[in-house]
Amino acid sequence: MVNLISFCLFLSFISFVLRQWMKRKSGRKLPPGPRKLPLIGDMHRLVGAKLPHVTFRDLSKQYGKDLMHLQLGEVPAVVVSSAEVAKLFLKTHDLDFATRPRVLACDEVMYDSSDILFSPYGEYWRQMRKVCITELLSARTVRSFSYIREDESHRLLDRVRSSSGAGRPINIVDEVTTFMTSIICRAAFGKTLNRTEELVKFVNEILIMVSSFSVADTFPSWKILHFLTGEKSRMVKVRRETDEIMGDIIKEHRNNLSSGKTGSGESGSEDIVDVLIKLMDSNSLPMSITDDNIKAIILDMFGGAVDTSTTTTVCAMVEMVKNPRVLAKAQAEVREVFKVKERLEESDVEKLAYLNLVIKETMRLHPPGPVLYRENNKESVVCGYTIPPKTRVLINAWAINRDPEYWEDPESFKPERFEDDPMDFTRSSQFKYMPFGSGRRMCPGITFGLANVYTPLAHLLYHFDWELPHGTTPHTLKLTELPGLAMSVKDDIFFIAAASPPTAV
Ligand code: HEM
Repeated sequence: MVNLISFCLFLSFISFVLRQWMKRKSGRKLPPGPRKLPLIGDMHRLVGAKLPHVTFRDLSKQYGKDLMHLQLGEVPAVVVSSAEVAKLFLKTHDLDFATRPRVLACDEVMYDSSDILFSPYGEYWRQMRKVCITELLSARTVRSFSYIREDESHRLLDRVRSSSGAGRPINIVDEVTTFMTSIICRAAFGKTLNRTEELVKFVNEILIMVSSFSVADTFPSWKILHFLTGEKSRMVKVRRETDEIMGDIIKEHRNNLSSGKTGSGESGSEDIVDVLIKLMDSNSLPMSITDDNIKAIILDMFGGAVDTSTTTTVCAMVEMVKNPRVLAKAQAEVREVFKVKERLEESDVEKLAYLNLVIKETMRLHPPGPVLYRENNKESVVCGYTIPPKTRVLINAWAINRDPEYWEDPESFKPERFEDDPMDFTRSSQFKYMPFGSGRRMCPGITFGLANVYTPLAHLLYHFDWELPHGTTPHTLKLTELPGLAMSVKDDIFFIAAASPPTAV
C-alpha cells in the first residue's frame, strides 16, 4: 500500500512539473496568485480554523485583489473579490461560466447531479429550472402556502410564550430551525415527517460535503484516495439513508394518487412531490424524468431553503437585539402597521419598509450563500488573463459585501444605508450586493425564501420584547458561522422574550 501511494505521489509530481513547463511554454497568462507547492498547489492555505470565504479574502488582499488564481490539488480555481470582476463572470461572460463545478458528493448523493443547484448547464437544467419557477415556486404557489406559514408562526409563538412564561431563555436557533423545516416539509411533503431531524442532518452533511474542497474534488483522478480517506463511503452512507427516506415519501404519494386523491397535501391538495410525480407520469416534459430526479429536486429544495432562511432570520434577530435602536424602530413599525388588524396578514408585510432594510442589511453582513460557484467548459479570457477549461470560479460575495471600497463603515449593522439605495434583493446591477446570486444560476426560490423570513420576524417583533440574558452583552454574544454551501449558525443563541401585546392578535 505504501509503495502504491509513493508511486501515485511520484506520478503526480511528474505531471505537475510537466504541466508547469507546458504552461510557461504556451505563453498563457494566469491571474496572479500565491506561490504553489508541488502536487498540492495551494491546498495547504485552506487548512485551518478560518471559514473558506475569510481565507479567500485574506489571500486575495495579498496576492490578487480582484482576481486571484489558486491551484487546488489537480483543479485550477480563481477567486473573484470585486464587484467589477464579478460582473464580467456573471454578466459579460455569463454563458461561458453558466455551469457548476462537478462535485463527487453531488454525483453520489444528488443522483448524478440531477438536482438544479449542481446540474450541469444544459437542456435538463433548463427544463427543471423552468418547472421549478413556473410550477413549484411561482408567486401563486408561494401564496398558496401562506396558511402553512401562518399556522407555523402561531406554533412558534406558542413555544416562545411557554418558555418566556416559565422564565426560560429562548434558544432562537432551535426555534427558527423548527419553524423553517416544518414549513418546507409541509409544502413539499404535505406534512412534517417522523424522520425530519434525520433528513435535516443528512442534507446539512451534503451541503458541507459539496463545498469542502475534499480530496475527492481536488484530486479527482486519484480514485483510490477517495476510498482511503473514507469520503466515498461517507457519501454512499448518506445516499443510502436519504434514498430510503425519499423513497418512502414518493411511495406514499403514489399510493395516495392511485387511490383517487388529488394530492397528499393538507386537506387533500397538491404538494410539491405530487406536482413532480404528476409531471413525470404525464410524459409532458421534453426530457422524461425518473423517481431519482424527483428525489434530487426535493433534496435541493430542502437544502436551498432551510439553512438560508434560518440563517437570515436568526442573524436578523441577533443584529437587532445587539442594536436596541434598530430593534425598537423595527418593532414600532410592525406594531403601527398591524395595530388595527385582527391578525397579521402576509399582504401587509410589504408595508414593513424598515423591516425590509433590516433584512437587506442582515444579508449583506451574513450572506447565506457567501461564495457563488461557477465553472467553464472551454478556455476563456477575462481581464486579459487566461481561465483554463474546468476552472472552479469562486465569487466571494461575502468579501464584496464587506469591502470598504463599496460600503461605508462596512462592519457596522446600519439598515439605513439601503434607504436611498435603489438596489433590491434581485436587481444586483452593480454586483456589489447579490444575496440571491446573479445571472442564469440566480436563486429561483427568492419569493418563497423571503416570505419565510418576513413572516416569523414580523410575528416575533409584534408579540415580544427581546433582550439578552443576564450576563451576556452585545460584545460577548457569539454569532459563529459554520462553513457549507449555505452558511449556518454554529452555536445555540439564547434570548429573553417578554410578551408585549399592544393589542391582541
Ligand atoms: C433567504 C433565502 C435564500 C437565499 C439567501 C438563497 C440564496 C441562494 C444563492 C446565493 C444561490 C446561488 C445563486 C448563484 O449561484 O448565482 C441560490 C441558488 C439556488 N436556490 Fe436559493 N436561496 C434562498 C432560498 C431558496 C429557497 C426557498 C429555495 C427552494 C425552495 C431555493 C432554491 C435554490 C436553487 C434550486 C438554487 C440553484 C439555482 C440554479 O443553479 O439554477 N433557494 N440560492
